Amino acid sequence: RVLIVDFGSQVTQLIARRLRESGVYCEIHPFDKVEAILDAYAPKAVILSGGPASAHEAGSPTAPQRIFELGVPVLGICYGEMTMCAQLGGQVESGHDREFGRAEIRIERQSPLLEGLGDLGHTETVWMSHGDKITAIPQGFEVVATSEGSPFAIIADEGRRFYGIQFHPEVAHTPRGALLLRNFTHRIAGLTGDWTMASYRQEQVAKIRAQVGDAKVICGLSGGVDSSVAAVLIHEAIGDQLTCVFVDTGLLRKDEATQVVTMFRDHYNIPLVHVDASDLFLGELEGVTDPETKRKTIGRLFIEVFDKESAKIEGAEFLAQGTLYPDVIESPSTSGGPSAVIKSHHNVGGLPDYMKLKLVEPLRELFKDEVRALGVELGLPPQFVGRHPFPGPGLAIRIPGEITRDKVAILQAADAIYLEEIRKAGLYDSIWQAFAVLLPVKTVGVMGDARTYESVLALRAVTSTDGMTADFFEFPWEVLGRCATRIINEVRGVNRVVYDVTSKPPGTIEWE
Ligand code: XMP
Repeated sequence: RVLIVDFGSQVTQLIARRLRESGVYCEIHPFDKVEAILDAYAPKAVILSGGPASAHEAGSPTAPQRIFELGVPVLGICYGEMTMCAQLGGQVESGHDREFGRAEIRIERQSPLLEGLGDLGHTETVWMSHGDKITAIPQGFEVVATSEGSPFAIIADEGRRFYGIQFHPEVAHTPRGALLLRNFTHRIAGLTGDWTMASYRQEQVAKIRAQVGDAKVICGLSGGVDSSVAAVLIHEAIGDQLTCVFVDTGLLRKDEATQVVTMFRDHYNIPLVHVDASDLFLGELEGVTDPETKRKTIGRLFIEVFDKESAKIEGAEFLAQGTLYPDVIESPSTSGGPSAVIKSHHNVGGLPDYMKLKLVEPLRELFKDEVRALGVELGLPPQFVGRHPFPGPGLAIRIPGEITRDKVAILQAADAIYLEEIRKAGLYDSIWQAFAVLLPVKTVGVMGDARTYESVLALRAVTSTDGMTADFFEFPWEVLGRCATRIINEVRGVNRVVYDVTSKPPGTIEWE
């Protein structure tokens, strides 16, 4: 396995993604915590990430010097190259011409790092981003590639297997960067790329058994991908020592509660407590119109109900959570660690800490798309694991104004038609999130000979990579038209459909 030493670059996570895509297991650790884990982790190779600091200044972050004495290959990227250079006796200065963006590098020397990229003199597009510049490389190093702004775009000490790259091979803007990283891990470090979801599954099953022993585990099932995959994996490990608690808020998509119950209880035979708490939730939400009050009410009720149900499960010592790797990666600037933080209640059902349950988090080493792959590996239907994100407060935040049972039913029906048409058009996987919003506005329409006065429904669909920014999705008009016609004909209470063309920012994805 590979150790990624994090110096705080925005794109460090992408290094891990690229490595894992080629079947190499790796972990990211902040530079100032590496010394403590180095012996236990015993990396087969080390990658030093980029970072915002300047390596020529006193007190700038460094990698533990021992890394260079382990006898394993080391790859320094951007800042990582600078600090490696400085730490091994080279010279780094603050550059006058900072180089950012697309650049062409030229191969000056053969190296296993560039295998398959091209011959001597070949040029390759890369993404540069650096402020410092190297003025002297350490002894033993040679120049492998240059660019107009960087005489040391790639340097190598083939004997010690130390490599420095001034650009970012991990980003998509370096089209063949993944090959370069793969050369480092496979050719240079000799890793075989045998880290697959099948091996992860086996490893985790053993780990869960060792952690839990014969104690009982409770898992809050939300119907979402993460908690579902966690539940199926844990069940595989410990069977009926696992009990899932599914709190049905009455604010899920149409038929979703039934689907969850059927899948877990009947298909997987996982002990499942299904709490139909829709009366409680809808009752307490009566008259509530403020979005944050809705969220808080739902969060509070969720904990109350979950708490009450899990207290009935005798001898439970562990709580399973679908925590993912991005939630636990410590960044150098926030040392201290988010790892102990229980994920927000609207997603999983974080418990008040007086319950003192120990956590089982079998997904905490995985990225979202790896969780999906693991889900498929565990036999969950691909359609299920590929579902769009769904917010914890559910349809409550898609009904601006007061929520009633009738409105929820109208929204569920319309939303189901919308998603069905999107799937039929083959567009579901091109969209990050698609949903309908039932507006508290009535407009006039005409159906047959009669005048109608009913609600407006807004359709929303966005593309995004992480939900932080988003663009509205450009539907073919006929798909939108079909959705509108069907919704107005089939859903009583809606007589007008509009499409939201706001991007984020300035809008948000949800309407509340
Ligand atoms: P916004 O609306 O903030 O949404 O652009 C970004 C992403 O977060 C989801 N979202 C939530 N998820 N509880 C959740 O679990 C919430 O209160 C919540 N609000 C928004 C939203 O669906 C989108 O994926």
